[in-house]
Amino acid sequence: MRNHAHMLKRSYINEVMAVAPSLSGPLLRMHFHDCFIRGCDGSVLLDSPTNQSEKFAPPNLSLRGFNIIDRVKLALENACPGVVSCADIVALVARDVTVATKGPFWEVETGRRDGNVSLISEPINPATGLPPFFASINLLKQSFALRGLNTKDLVVLSGGHTIGMSHCSSFDSRLYNFTGKGDTDPSMDPNYIARLKLKCKQGDQTTLAELDPGSFKTFDDSYYRLVTKRRGLLQSDAALLNDPETRAYLVQSTSHGSTFFKDFGVSMVNMGRIGVLTGSQGEVRTICSKRN
Ligand code: HEM
Repeated sequence: MRNHAHMLKRSYINEVMAVAPSLSGPLLRMHFHDCFIRGCDGSVLLDSPTNQSEKFAPPNLSLRGFNIIDRVKLALENACPGVVSCADIVALVARDVTVATKGPFWEVETGRRDGNVSLISEPINPATGLPPFFASINLLKQSFALRGLNTKDLVVLSGGHTIGMSHCSSFDSRLYNFTGKGDTDPSMDPNYIARLKLKCKQGDQTTLAELDPGSFKTFDDSYYRLVTKRRGLLQSDAALLNDPETRAYLVQSTSHGSTFFKDFGVSMVNMGRIGVLTGSQGEVRTICSKRN
């Protein structure tokens, strides 16, 4: 990417973070949701006249920040038209919000092209869709392996939950009805359950809770400390305690020898390589929500 375009995008993201810091979580998550469905091809950004594209699938309804992607795109099209794909913008913005929240920097590989297909059914396909919040460790490992990502990538990228928020509905079964008998999740710290119940009444669909309470606006390694103390918010976070390799990483990341920041950049590059379109495949969209 030409340098002035790079500077433009960078100053724009700093501006966004100043006025809407709460978009850092959704914008990091957007790259994950893009890459895991049809590869990192910007398919999550496409609109559909009948609301049948990926962004209308339940796990994507809580994504936000599409207008930020559109605005970065507009600025880049003005500076150098037809060069930077929407898929690349999502990847670059994910890196920039990580840096803006005091997380690590990594060099983003670019050159992705934008796909033309986006289907509401794909994110929720039980075998090949996004891993659900209730995924077991085996399902999580499978879901990552299907995309060429290993167990280390899984535990490292889950560390993305060091920023941002979750709707109560993504974890309230752990508080109220874990096995359908009005019980709680035995793998969660009971004191934490009590605190979360004050925030989330049963059936609450709208309230948000911090994934990493105390520092949900800061990209740091406290996520691993919480998960190790059985205070991971999502079942998929707690599941990382159920495998020797992921558990060892959790423990190591709470020590001075933590390599999380360096690892996160490496795993984000790995994730950014999933199913990339190159050459004459796809296109470089002019407007990220529309095919050319
Ligand atoms: C390992 C499998 C994963 C599962 C099951 C999962 C699931 C979830 C769920 C259920 C939420 C809350 C959504 C809501 O209720 O609003 C969430 C939020 C979030 N996820 Fe993940 N996630 C996973 C991996 C990742 C990865 C790989 C990243 C990025 C590297 C990521 C970044 C985020 C961020 C930043 C948020 C906060 C979003 C916000 O503030 O709106 N997640 N995730």
